[in-house]
Amino acid sequence: MSDPKFTPRVFSGIQPSGGLTLGNYLGAIKRFVDMQDQGGFETVYCMVDLHAITVWQDPADLTKNTRELCAGFIASGIDPEKSILINQSQVPEHAQLGWVFNCVARMGWMGRMTQWKDKAGKNSENASLGLFGYPALMAADILVYHATHVPVGEDQKQHLELTRDIAAKFNHDYKVDFFPLTEPVIEGAATRVMSLRDGSKKMSKSDPSDMARINMTDDADAIAKKIRKAKTDPEALPSEIKGLEGRPEARNLVNIYAALNDQSAEEVLRDVGGRQFGEFKPMLADLAVAKLAPISGEMARLMAAPDEIDRILTRGAERARAITAPILRKTYDIVGMVPPVAL
Ligand code: TYM
Repeated sequence: MSDPKFTPRVFSGIQPSGGLTLGNYLGAIKRFVDMQDQGGFETVYCMVDLHAITVWQDPADLTKNTRELCAGFIASGIDPEKSILINQSQVPEHAQLGWVFNCVARMGWMGRMTQWKDKAGKNSENASLGLFGYPALMAADILVYHATHVPVGEDQKQHLELTRDIAAKFNHDYKVDFFPLTEPVIEGAATRVMSLRDGSKKMSKSDPSDMARINMTDDADAIAKKIRKAKTDPEALPSEIKGLEGRPEARNLVNIYAALNDQSAEEVLRDVGGRQFGEFKPMLADLAVAKLAPISGEMARLMAAPDEIDRILTRGAERARAITAPILRKTYDIVGMVPPVAL
């Protein structure tokens, strides 16, 4: 249960560091739309461009990817009137609170983050300082809104635990009850969408093989081809979940079907149990095309009007700052920083 002292508020973000994948859509964006539409929350969704540059981004690509991500949000059902839609760099309080949290978080906490270990690998001496501090900025993204709920895919769980640790340490060190302990919302049939070529690897925009993922900009033919060629096993589909044990590729396709069709994996298996992949794959391809092709079409239409996207982001930043500026000022007061006075 979240603390009734805080306004129910959802925050989540996606890096504009490449195209959107089906993993981003099912694990995150589709859930963002659900939380926007279910009511009862203020919703803030962010293109985290400051996070993206923790690894090299070509400037022209970063601009294009940020606008494309914004188009992806809107085409998927995020309404810029109902939700606040921003890019992180236009709301300076994210980076400002991020600095305070750099001074709260401990080196040891950061060093234990699996994403840091995966991304920096053996070459950590050469990784950017920003990549190491990444989770402190992520905590600031969330807590600068006093967000109570954060919908994400499974891979972000550890970062959200760290966000709670940072909030708790700040509250403890300064003897306040100021930052909420945010609830991760990791729900639905597809919290971890796997590669179409290897069921043990996450579907990722950085996979060298384009056949491993479905991009939100893929057309109907590309989607159908990738599903047709997806790795599977020779067995028929089981009627119950336990029959998917040890069959990661089969499990992945069933989960994707379930999430696209707003069903549980159990319900899907009840309908398709006993069928071969030769029959199931065309069903999945038809469903994926029906759900995704309208989104990619709408994205292309929105991308043709980049000025309109820029206006939406500027307006979003204005609305966001009405929330973030007072929370940052109060944080500075708690820390003991002298405020400006009227001259
Ligand atoms: P990013 O950009 O890697 O991914 C954005 C969202 O998509 C989800 N996701 C997936 N879900 C299921 N299956 C997959 N294969 C898959 N791939 C990606 C991610 O879990 C995520 O929810 N650190 C974050 C961005 C961030 C953020 C934040 C998120 C920065 N500040 C504050 C929430 C709150 C990231 O790199 O996500």
